[in-house]
Amino acid sequence: MNNLIIKNADQVVTCSGFEGKRGREMSDLHVIEGGTVIVTGGIISHVLHPGEEIPVSERDYTLIDAGGKALLPGFVDPHTHFVFGGYREEEFSWRMRGDSYMDIMNRGGGIVNTTRATREATEEELMESGRQRLDAMMRLGITTVEGKSGYGLDRDTELKQLRVMRRLNETHPMDIIPTFMGAHAIPEEWKGKEDEFVDFNIREMFPLVAGEKLAEAVDIFCEKGVFSVEQSRRYLAAAREHGFLLKMHADEIVPMGGAELAAELRCLSADHLLQASDEGIRAMAQADVVATLLPLTAFSLREKYARGREMIDTDCMVALATDLNPGSSFSASVPLLFAIACIYMRLSPEEAVSAFTINSAAAINRADYIGSIDVGKQADLILLQFPSYKFLPYHVGMNIVETVIKRGRIVVKN
Ligand code: NIG
Ligand code: FE
Repeated sequence: MNNLIIKNADQVVTCSGFEGKRGREMSDLHVIEGGTVIVTGGIISHVLHPGEEIPVSERDYTLIDAGGKALLPGFVDPHTHFVFGGYREEEFSWRMRGDSYMDIMNRGGGIVNTTRATREATEEELMESGRQRLDAMMRLGITTVEGKSGYGLDRDTELKQLRVMRRLNETHPMDIIPTFMGAHAIPEEWKGKEDEFVDFNIREMFPLVAGEKLAEAVDIFCEKGVFSVEQSRRYLAAAREHGFLLKMHADEIVPMGGAELAAELRCLSADHLLQASDEGIRAMAQADVVATLLPLTAFSLREKYARGREMIDTDCMVALATDLNPGSSFSASVPLLFAIACIYMRLSPEEAVSAFTINSAAAINRADYIGSIDVGKQADLILLQFPSYKFLPYHVGMNIVETVIKRGRIVVKN
């Protein structure tokens, strides 16, 4: 039964809203102390203040006493690469020894290394490892996840990755929003023919992916030594012609004007942004581009964090994501994400919660449907072991999610 009455939560942290929040709006979580939330048929039907009468017949509902707990919308992770073959633990140890992420990529490691393993993996193997990763994410309170292709870099493997995500979406309680990332790296067989590889994606892959409706957005790694600003502009402009929403890995390692390009093209989001310029930050705020920050990646690469504080102060819509992938961030640790976002990126706990709920929903074009506790939204909810959302960054590195509810059904009890 997906009818629930969740009663007397110390805090109902609604994050109320139907679009992304910018700047100061991110500080207001619209908390109801002692509130009650009713779910009817998997949809949030009532959000009640203390003292308000319960307007449904209680015997048709399962009752949950949320006394001593905080109730939040399920977390939305808007940037991951969770479908992949193989691991890169050797490369991690090389990085600890002093090699850079780009050095390793340039000698045939990095994304191309995972591409070899993903090409070899069967669809069933990718399903199984993908399912396990989704289970782990769900235990941490994530109820919707974006997933990118981009470890195939050839027709069949890119389609295989996208089909795996489609099948997982059908069989796992997690909602999966797939993104096509054909331009994630230059595969060995296209070395020296980067423009032709971009053309291949535009000519062959966009029509196939759009035709089978395998992705809503496309993404590209705009980076020195990977795809240039000019190649990114051409790829993204063509993607728009096919009806895709646009995303970018922008200004991650070397400042290149990625944020500026995202604003020029009115991308849905620009992600990473460690090196984004002041001008780029202002342009993103003006063009309504969601700035998606990935603290676990900067941490794992021992790079300087993106300037989250300044982005919010410049009136940007800032979202957070794990970037789960086998190279730069082999982690979906939501607890660590909150801790770093607050301690090192200097977001307030309120801003961090907005960034990983309503704003991360906006980063995947779903703010009208998930990311807040509002009447009419899908009932994706989490209960914390503690009475306040403030414990999320404060209890460093600890999973304090107690119960996860997906479309009105309990899917995790920790
Ligand atoms: O978001 N920067 C490019 N893509 C991923 C890393 C992928 C990998 O290393 O396998 C990222 O960090
Ligand atoms: Fe990424």
